[in-house]
Amino acid sequence: MNAVYEKLLRCYDCYKVKIDFEPKVALVLGSGLEDYAESIEIKATLNYHDIEGFPVSTVPGHKGRFIFGYVGEVPVVVMQGRVHYYEGYPMSDVVLPIRLMKMMGAEVLFLTNAAGGTNYGFNVGDFMLITDQISSFVQSPLIGSNIDELGTRFPDMSEIYQKELRAVIKNAAESLGITLQEGTYLQLSGPNFESPAEVKMCRTLGADAVGMSTACEAVAANHMGMKVCGISCISNLACGMSDQPLSHGEVQETADKVAPLFKALITKSVMEIGKLF
Ligand code: HPA
Repeated sequence: MNAVYEKLLRCYDCYKVKIDFEPKVALVLGSGLEDYAESIEIKATLNYHDIEGFPVSTVPGHKGRFIFGYVGEVPVVVMQGRVHYYEGYPMSDVVLPIRLMKMMGAEVLFLTNAAGGTNYGFNVGDFMLITDQISSFVQSPLIGSNIDELGTRFPDMSEIYQKELRAVIKNAAESLGITLQEGTYLQLSGPNFESPAEVKMCRTLGADAVGMSTACEAVAANHMGMKVCGISCISNLACGMSDQPLSHGEVQETADKVAPLFKALITKSVMEIGKLF
């Protein structure tokens, strides 16, 4: 059997013996949002450390566990902390949690992140509904022999971020009085922030925001036929767009500041998404 799939099945077995909960929506929490998981009606938790072979984040401030519970009436699994490609994990490990959440039963994947704005029309603290993505700068998680049990060899990517889910999130934002930007997210490997020339390249290629996660996860999810949506918190303007040098502290600070609004948007969106499926 394919080694990547074998590992995934082992992780699934670990979940299955420990947790009796079937989520409908999977939520990945980006920087500044991690404690959202503690605000839901928690039914169970599973530490990444307790899942054999599961990749564990090395980023300071990133927690590492699944939280199972309800947002309103909607059964969810929340990833409190994700792993990034720049941590040195193979891409198959980076997307393993996404694949595992699909195996748990989640049909919808809700991705969040902090990202640098490359669009001059954006302001620090804005939220951007991800409408499309550019993942070509990082390795595809689908490289290697195809796992036929998960999806087809050459999956279509014409609507990675599902229109119906986008409409729900837009309505949720409007009802909360939250301005929602829209745009294309581009993933680079990191961990270094971009040079001004790279930021210009991102903009020239049509990106509105740049980050170090998310797009590879969306590819893996789309391969499995999950319905995907995503929101970026524009934690900073990308390098070269302001006079200040960029730091992880700035990213964290903005993300923390707008977290209450971001959390309200997620709650409302998930509750509405639950009515769809
Ligand atoms: N670049 C890449 N990743 C990021 C940024 C950025 O400016 N801000 C937050 N994550």
